[in-house]
Amino acid sequence: MPIDYYKRQWLAREVPATATCPPLPSGYHWLEWREDRLDLHAEVLANAFAEETDARLFPSLSNRTGCRMLVRAIRDLTGFSAKASWLIAGPAGPIASVLSSVDFNVGMIQNLGVVPDMRDRGFGSALLARALAGFAAVGAGRVELEVTVSNSAAMSLYRRFGFRAYKSSYRPLEVPDRSMVGLGI
Ligand SMILES: CC(C)(COP(=O)(O)OP(=O)(O)OC[C@H]1O[C@@H](n2cnc3c(N)ncnc32)[C@H](O)[C@@H]1OP(=O)(O)O)[C@@H](O)C(=O)NCCC(=O)NCCS
Repeated sequence: MPIDYYKRQWLAREVPATATCPPLPSGYHWLEWREDRLDLHAEVLANAFAEETDARLFPSLSNRTGCRMLVRAIRDLTGFSAKASWLIAGPAGPIASVLSSVDFNVGMIQNLGVVPDMRDRGFGSALLARALAGFAAVGAGRVELEVTVSNSAAMSLYRRFGFRAYKSSYRPLEVPDRSMVGLGI
């Protein structure tokens, strides 16, 4: 089967000593990390990633069950950071999620997503600002994340926040060979 390769980059920036977070629009509020909100994070992430290339590169992002397992795995990390893990909820329920960890004073954004019909209103920026404030509160000096370079919305968000690339890798994705379609094999 033919294989496509997707470029991934590691981005990083310093954590400001004190980070502030702009207020959310009226009707929206923050929900801090709580164990009984685990499935809400999973639901938001499943919606956020459903149509994204990352869901093909990382199949656990492509459905609710996979996202539940992923959120549990992140929660179980030794360095899981409740202070940098948040939901944003609006009148119809949760719409955005960020999950993070801290290891050796380095913060790591494990996952960040906004449901499709709530994008381009500043919620992605708010999540990132809130995670940075959480990292600052626990004394992390640097924050890192990994992103698929073709994900222009995410790349644009992270660059706007001052993240810069320091490492690249390529992730393979098997793609169906068109010449085999219809042959019943
Ligand atoms: C990447 C992602 C989180 C961005 O979320 P978002 O809520 O659209 O982000 P923002 O609204 O803060 O920023 C998007 C754009 O809206 C603009 N914007 C910010 N606040 C705004 C506001 N109040 N009104 C209108 N536009 C606004 C921003 O300037 C930004 O423009 P840019 O293209 O210059 O970056 C979202 O596209 C997503 O969930 N994608 C799928 C999951 C994913 O890929 N996650 C990242 C994996 S590494």
